[in-house]
Amino acid sequence: MAGSIRKPLVAGNWKMNGTSGSLDEARKIAEGAQSFADSVDVMLCPPATLIARMDLRCAGTDLLLGGQDCHHDGSGAHTGDISAEMLVDAGASAVILGHSERRVDHKETSQAVAEKAAAAHRAGLTALVCVGETDIERRSGQADNVVGEQVRLSLPQTTTGQNVVIAYEPVWAIGTGVTPTTNDISEMHGVMRNMLADRFGEAVAASMRILYGGSVKPGNAAQLLRIDNVDGALVGGASLTAKDFLAILGAYVSRAAEPAAAEA
Ligand code: PGA
Repeated sequence: MAGSIRKPLVAGNWKMNGTSGSLDEARKIAEGAQSFADSVDVMLCPPATLIARMDLRCAGTDLLLGGQDCHHDGSGAHTGDISAEMLVDAGASAVILGHSERRVDHKETSQAVAEKAAAAHRAGLTALVCVGETDIERRSGQADNVVGEQVRLSLPQTTTGQNVVIAYEPVWAIGTGVTPTTNDISEMHGVMRNMLADRFGEAVAASMRILYGGSVKPGNAAQLLRIDNVDGALVGGASLTAKDFLAILGAYVSRAAEPAAAEA
């Protein structure tokens, strides 16, 4: 992040966790995050059922809210789906798209993710687009190709440096406690930044935030988040409690003041 024009973003992905009883925890996160508001954007992406109530419960704070998926249409006969416009209506300013759990569980292709991202832009949402290779793909030397292809196909023509955030989440690092080396993360983020420059131009590539995600915890946040070209984190399990999520923010902010390093 050294010398970066990009304000870091730390987003919590609550996945299919949380009911009305979790709103107090969200409020604690929102209040605790206020002291970091100048240096980092903080977002929670709860289940869609909680967005509107979380918006009310966290009123008066700078906490941003996001959905976890949206349909590409604005409305219509799509039972069980939620549109980008509905997420905006509930109080969201962003939506996670193409998370590996959705790519696997719902067979979402990168083309489908691009359609959803275009819908997010139509509604005025930031698309937080997830990419990442599997363990087998990394071990067979395919990681750069796989992730490059996902970035190429998942971003719509409406992409700008502000309305898309990429989250690099190696599938094998999600929920496992295992993380890539700092060199691997740095290299992958560099590959993506170059691809963005080729397709959308230097200005877009320089202003788009690329997050790291996968087993980010209080104990490794400082190291992971100071890697060159890493502009924040997408946090799963450790975003569910104020204690852990605020510890990650604290570790990040204190380390971000130090010089960036490609190697820890
Ligand atoms: P994790 O999940 O932090 O629990 O590994 C990250 C994610 O899936 O976004």
